[in-house]
Amino acid sequence: MSNYEQTLSIIKPDAVERNLSEEIKNEFKKNGFKIKEEKKVHLEKSEAEKFYLVHQSKPFYNDLCDYLSSGPIIVMVLEKENAVIANRELMGATNPSEARDGTLRKKYGISIDKNSVHGSDSTDNARIEIDFFFKK
Ligand code: CMP
Repeated sequence: MSNYEQTLSIIKPDAVERNLSEEIKNEFKKNGFKIKEEKKVHLEKSEAEKFYLVHQSKPFYNDLCDYLSSGPIIVMVLEKENAVIANRELMGATNPSEARDGTLRKKYGISIDKNSVHGSDSTDNARIEIDFFFKK
């Protein structure tokens, strides 16, 4: 049965700053994702705090929000069969040092914070995250 889905992807400040956006977008396309929407934004810290609200209780929350708002990011709506899981597989483990060869975080990530890309972790969160950036 077909399960065509959307997921939210972010190219984080470390990757935008190193001019890796086009290369990373090509990786998505090469892996069968359609980039349905795309925009470059620079979040205020308060917006980053809202985006990462699920992590509010974590010790790394403040640094995480400082980081996401530290420079421009590219936000995209990606589409593909089983897009949420497919994107998580393509990204690899959160910590680049634990990510498998061939994954985006292994290729481009610098550290657990500067791990180059974010992807929704469930279809419910994908909807919430897509609305956060693209709701008209
Ligand atoms: P992301 O997929 O964007 O979701 C939350 C982010 O928190 C995660 O990627 C990491 O970049 C960041 N982070 C920082 N420290 C940790 C940690 N100890 N465990 C999980 N995520 C962390």
